[in-house]
This record gives sequence, C-alpha cells and structure tokens, in this order.
Amino acid sequence: MKYGSHYSVMKKDILDVLSRDFSDQESLTFADLTFGAGGHTRAIAELFKDSSVYSFDQDPDAISNGEKFLEKEGLLDQVKLIDSNFNNFSNMLAAELRFDGVLLDAGVSSHQFDTGERGFSFRFDGPLDMRMNPNAGVPAADLLNGMSEEELRGIFQSYGEEKFSRQIAKSIVERREVEPFTTTKQLEDTCFHAYPKKLRHGKIHPATKVFQALRIMVNDELGVLGDVIRQVIPRLKVNGLLMIITFHSLEDRIVKHAFKEWKNESFPIEILTKKPLLPSAEEIFENSRSRSAKLRVIRRVKDWPSKNKYPKKE
Ligand SMILES: C[S@@+](CC[C@H](N)C(=O)[O-])C[C@H]1O[C@@H](n2cnc3c(N)ncnc32)[C@H](O)[C@@H]1O
Repeated sequence: MKYGSHYSVMKKDILDVLSRDFSDQESLTFADLTFGAGGHTRAIAELFKDSSVYSFDQDPDAISNGEKFLEKEGLLDQVKLIDSNFNNFSNMLAAELRFDGVLLDAGVSSHQFDTGERGFSFRFDGPLDMRMNPNAGVPAADLLNGMSEEELRGIFQSYGEEKFSRQIAKSIVERREVEPFTTTKQLEDTCFHAYPKKLRHGKIHPATKVFQALRIMVNDELGVLGDVIRQVIPRLKVNGLLMIITFHSLEDRIVKHAFKEWKNESFPIEILTKKPLLPSAEEIFENSRSRSAKLRVIRRVKDWPSKNKYPKKE
C-alpha cells in the first residue's frame, strides 16, 4: 500500500498558537487525535524537540505508514502512535498523563478520499465502504441496503443538508429492490437521476451531500467529536490548549456549543477564539480542500473567568 500525501490544514496557525504559549525549552506533552499522514504531529515534534506526542488514528493504513516514516526520521521515541478511535482517549492513555496541547483535525485524509477501494469518493468506482477503520463497524452499502426510506431521507437531510433527500431516498429504495447497492458508482448514478434534470450539472454534483451524510453516519463522526471533547478537557494541564479544526457546519456547531456549554468548576476553560480562525487566502490557493476549515481553540485556566462565573454563588 502506498500512502498518499496530505496537506496539513492550518499548520502554521497551529504552530503559532502553540509557540505563543510555550517555548521549545520546556518538556511538553501533546496529543494529535487525527494523525493521518502525520504532518501536524511531525511539525509539533520538530518545533518542540523535547516534547512527547501521543498520536491516534483509527485507519490501519495511516498507522503503518506512520510507523515507517517516524522510524526513518528518528521520531519513534518522541511520537507514540496509537492505533485506535480517539473516542478511546481516556482508556488508551495512562491515567496520570496530562496535556499541554491537544489537536483534532476532523474528517477524512486525502489518502482515504483518493483511494478508490476505500469507497469515500464517487470519482472512482469502488466498493461502497467508507469506514475509516475497515476492521470495525458497518460498510456504507449495508446501511444503504438495510435502512428504511424514511431513515435514509432523515440521514441525507440532517447530515448532508440535501434538498432532494426525499427523491434520493425513494430512488435508492426502488433501485435496491432490483439490485442491492455494492459500489460507489451505483449510488452516484442513483443520486444523479433522482435530481431534477435541469439541476444535474450544477456546481456541486448531486451525490456530494449524500456521500458526506453516509460517511458521517458510517463513522459516527459527530458522536465521537462531542464525546472526545468531554474526555480531553479534564486531561489538560492548567494553561493546556485544545485546538479543533472542522470542515462543515455540523461539526463546527458541535465544537462551538461544547466549548460554550462546558461548565465544570474543577476544569474551567477560556475560549480563545470568539470567532473561528480561518485559513489564509494563500493556503486556500495552495490547497482548495482547506477552504471550509475552521479552527477553534480553548485554554484550561486556573479559575473560571469572572464574567462566566459558574455556578453562580447565592
Ligand atoms: C484530516 S486527516 C488528518 C491529517 C493530519 N492532521 C495530517 O496533517 O496529515 C484525519 C485523519 O484522522 C483519522 N480519524 C478521523 N476520525 C477519527 C477517529 N474518530 N479516531 C481516530 N482517527 C480518526 C482519519 O482516519 C484520518 O487519517
């Protein structure tokens, strides 16, 4: 397996945020919850030479590629790769570990998206799978063949914000009575023909949002995001940072609300990004996949900032 390259989104912003708070002389502890091609992990490890980085990925391709390049670059002592869903954050790490910085760069890697056999993209004819960890969970095809028309419509609407979710769900149910769904191209073709004729050739392909919705469902992307935030905050040191990059409004809303609603007296936080940071025009020019990225950052503080005092004392 050749692991594809990946442009690390907002890498400079992440390093700027970290260097503002920490110096490379300190011995720091970081976690990268979404290792992927390892670009963020590598940059953090190189900037803070005396640090330890705990990096998670649930994709075996990312882990085996990482093991090879970390060994080649002499980083295996500094970076500990953890082959797991980041949802197991608390269970996979020693109970006493506390972090100066935790990064989550949500979504799929270019490797996953550009590898036809993984089934993430309708640009290739491949098995309709979409699991980031192919050894766990249920492939997209099984969901598509097993869910009711009403359930499918609901998924396309809530996770894809797809306007023609009703028509697409109906066409899927009709088609699967003739032949079960097994490939990406079957689904692409069904979405295309379910769209009104005059809208089939718009800026966004009729299958785009349905593919996004199914991927979110298959990998429970929204569920694990909210969950891991609640696991990470209590593991931050005082002054520790949590940095999250998201790529669509559903994810960003979860992060924004989880930060805003975090009211735990023992682990007070300060929101450092009232508005999310966005990639520069230069970065978007270099990597168009960065265009929808949003970065939100919080810091664990010693005392609850006075204007948010919680709970209110009588
Ligand atoms: C956008 S890529 C990360 C790219 C990385 N920051 C870099 O610079 O190369 C997302 C990666 O996170 C992994 N991932 C997504 N959700 C995950 C989860 N819940 N648990 C573990 N890994 C996850 C994916 O398998 C993918 O490899």
